[in-house]
Amino acid sequence: MTNKQPVGTSKKNWLRENWLRVLTHVGAWLPGMWLAWNWFHNNLGADPVTTLNNVTGRAAMVLLLLCLAATPLYIVTGWRQGLAVRRALGLYAFAYAALHFANFIVLDYGLDLQFILDDGIQTKPYILVGLTALLALSALAITSTKGWQKRLRRQWTRLHALIYPAGVLVMLHFFWQAKAAEKIEPLLYAALLGLLLLVRVTPLRKAIVGRRQRGKTPKRSTIAAPEPAALTTPPQPTE
Ligand code: HEM
Repeated sequence: MTNKQPVGTSKKNWLRENWLRVLTHVGAWLPGMWLAWNWFHNNLGADPVTTLNNVTGRAAMVLLLLCLAATPLYIVTGWRQGLAVRRALGLYAFAYAALHFANFIVLDYGLDLQFILDDGIQTKPYILVGLTALLALSALAITSTKGWQKRLRRQWTRLHALIYPAGVLVMLHFFWQAKAAEKIEPLLYAALLGLLLLVRVTPLRKAIVGRRQRGKTPKRSTIAAPEPAALTTPPQPTE
């Protein structure tokens, strides 16, 4: 008798275990591939710099929100798989934000520092807000490795709590730069972020987890299920 599984079965198992990772990586590359394809085919519209700016900015923001959604999803539903792709989502968010910034200073302002200071920063304060968010995301991306996590220990968790103010700054940046008639979309994204942050507030989080676990426990059982460690300690990187 042999222990070997048929090739088709092991592939199926692999996909069943890794579908979210695959979806995350493929999905995160899509906006970049779309931009690269249309750039090379001269198909980025009448104002390619604005298209680049909008696509990279939005991709960064959506990936950041998805990254911030993993823990609340776990709290509410008990679904753990999302936690395993948090780090990748955060790093992709940072990569798009860096491209967004590069597009701004290189293609939009031609690397003219004086022009960036006079026109970019002084007349458009939302740029400073975006820059602050990008600096925070950079610190998180640099220290996202296991090595930095070990080196910084408790400080690592504190440092990585910067993701919350960074998310708020991104929403402020998005809202501030939008024209008066287009403010509704940034407001909807900000409301979503508000909801994701609210679920993490300790009393609410405990109430939600308690309710979920009571729902799971067989009625006659008197043994309370232990609270998962991941909810009593702040989220750690899992990749
Ligand atoms: C140094 C950092 C940044 C600079 C210089 C910058 C610059 C800009 C500029 C010039 C615009 C367009 C404003 C207009 O159309 O008039 C913009 C829009 C935007 N930015 Fe940034 N930004 C920065 C950081 C970020 C970060 C970190 C994020 C997200 C993680 C972000 C997300 C967005 C979004 C979503 C928009 C709106 C795009 C749209 O209208 O479709 N930005 N940013």
